[in-house]
Amino acid sequence: MSKSVLLIIGGGIAAYKGLELIRLLKTRGIGVRVIMTKAAEEFVTPLSVASLSGEKVHSALFNLTDEVEMGHIELSRSADLVVVVPATADLIAKMASGLANDLASTTLLATDKKVLIAPAMNVRMWLHAATQRNIATLKSDSIHFIGPNEGDMACGEFGPGRMAEPVEILAAIEKLLSPSALPLKGRKILITAGPTREPIDPVRYISNYSSGKQGYAIAEAARDIGADVTLVSGPVSLAKPVGITVSNVQTADEMLKACDGIYDVVICAAAVADWKVTKPASHKIKKTKSGEVPVLSFIENPDILATLSKPGKSRAKLVVGFAAETENVIEYAKAKLTKKGCDLIVANDVSETSGVFGGDKNTVHIVNPKGVEDWPNLSKAEVARRLMTHIAGLLK
Ligand code: CTP
Repeated sequence: MSKSVLLIIGGGIAAYKGLELIRLLKTRGIGVRVIMTKAAEEFVTPLSVASLSGEKVHSALFNLTDEVEMGHIELSRSADLVVVVPATADLIAKMASGLANDLASTTLLATDKKVLIAPAMNVRMWLHAATQRNIATLKSDSIHFIGPNEGDMACGEFGPGRMAEPVEILAAIEKLLSPSALPLKGRKILITAGPTREPIDPVRYISNYSSGKQGYAIAEAARDIGADVTLVSGPVSLAKPVGITVSNVQTADEMLKACDGIYDVVICAAAVADWKVTKPASHKIKKTKSGEVPVLSFIENPDILATLSKPGKSRAKLVVGFAAETENVIEYAKAKLTKKGCDLIVANDVSETSGVFGGDKNTVHIVNPKGVEDWPNLSKAEVARRLMTHIAGLLK
């Protein structure tokens, strides 16, 4: 039977994201009925909400017709999950103190269904002791949270308080609606991402152009289908993903150390520097009067993928590597599969013209001992989703 959600839209600038969430829920075949607070109507119109949801929008508590046809009890009874988007400081405070003075708060007090809230507010409001007290109360009341994320806010500030993106909220909804249906539920996954930085001296280093975007997208896609994800990340300028354990490292040696543990799946998406400076200087290397240039000597870094692929009791069931190539992509990828001892290689062309490094799209080839599967040019998020679905299939 198809599932349905009762969506409560609160009055904040992030209310517009509620529209996108309704659209996403519909594409997943999840039914959605909507309650809007009075303040929410200042940000999005009930007409837009009704058009997208295909249902009448509910907002008045004392409405005789509704009480006959569908009162607040019936609204929550007919849903599998209640979702509050955005959960404003005001709505959160009402929930925490059990107030019931409009349709949204009355429904939230009357429901016996699971409740998921996506907080959104100014960073200072979020950090205020009163809000934090209310959050703690809601957590002890078993209210589920998604976000808030850290980032730029509509008020021009930066920090925690930005509402989770509709795709993240959708993933949290799907998780709550059918937790056992998630294909990677209970699986532990380790992902390496981003570049490493190998020091020359305290102010200089050697690194590469990896943005970490593909690795982060994979971590999020794995999380979204139920995995317990650990992300070991080199220095990147991406926001810390929610619901993922992140270990930040600089060098290849640190990355290898942080990868210690027992996992079902390991995915090495990091662009690890192949070499490190033999003896990084402990002080800044200075120019000499005679104009001599420093001569650096290198030694090879540990190969994290090869190390984690080694047979043994603690080896993951599935070890996946990437092959970043600028020519002979498939040929080199096949050679890497054998050399590193992993089970699967995701090969991609990272030549300058491909735009992969730093870009949002990727064209990959899935190389395993049996053959090669070519995927079309896709967004990194889509490559990540397909890869995780592929991996979930292999683990079955
Ligand atoms: N890798 C790793 N540790 C290293 C080098 C690479 O874990 N020290 C992993 C990468 O995360 C990737 C795979 O090995 O999954 C292949 O990386 P790539 O840079 O394409 O290949 P290299 O092994 O560095 O070989 P080459 O530079 O000769 O292409």
